[in-house]
Amino acid sequence: MVKISPSILSADFANLARDIAKIASADYVHVDVMDGLFVPNITIGIPVVKALRPTTTLPLDVHLMIDRPLRYVEQFCDAGADIVTCHVEADTEENIRAALDKIHAKGKKAGVVVKPKTPAEAVLPFLDVCDIVLVMTVEPGFGGQSFMADMMPKVAQIRAWIDERGLACELEVDGGVGPKTRDVCIEAGANVLVAGSAVYGAEDIPARIKELRG
Ligand code: DX5
Ligand code: ZN
Repeated sequence: MVKISPSILSADFANLARDIAKIASADYVHVDVMDGLFVPNITIGIPVVKALRPTTTLPLDVHLMIDRPLRYVEQFCDAGADIVTCHVEADTEENIRAALDKIHAKGKKAGVVVKPKTPAEAVLPFLDVCDIVLVMTVEPGFGGQSFMADMMPKVAQIRAWIDERGLACELEVDGGVGPKTRDVCIEAGANVLVAGSAVYGAEDIPARIKELRG
């Protein structure tokens, strides 16, 4: 089943609870955390995740675009994140693994993320302990960018590794995903689609979520 994780980066930050209510038919709520260091933008932090937690029963899918995430993963879990993903580029292999372990110790789902220029092989050291792998289909930092179709072989390669190993790991894509690009993502093997502008820019949000799910 295809899952939809709308990114609230494209919501109205002055009305987040209202805008999260609009995506009640989705599967996850994608929360983009940016530190102004790992990516050239600053967005949501721990207090906002905590404030959002009681506004929805959907799992909070927290995408950490922060340097050395090991420093903060426990706080995001305590704030109410259900899924926490860390970029493999954000620290050493040892420290990323330690971050995944800390997330699991909190009883939450953990995963890794790869930027467009990072090869598929970068997920291999973590694959056996990941609940989810996220492949960026834009450079992380901003919503509303164009989908990078050339990331599809990477998605297909990671899907093959997940299936070969019989892992239950989910495979998520993020960036520029909309009605025109969702098919190639699914064909390549993604099962979770993040969509920011495609969801919040739609006139009928529930209809758009349904369309993306297919
Ligand atoms: C980009 C973020 C994405 C972003 C996607 O760094 O990780 O989640 O919100 O936005 P769209 O779907 O508009 O490309
Ligand atoms: Zn994201």
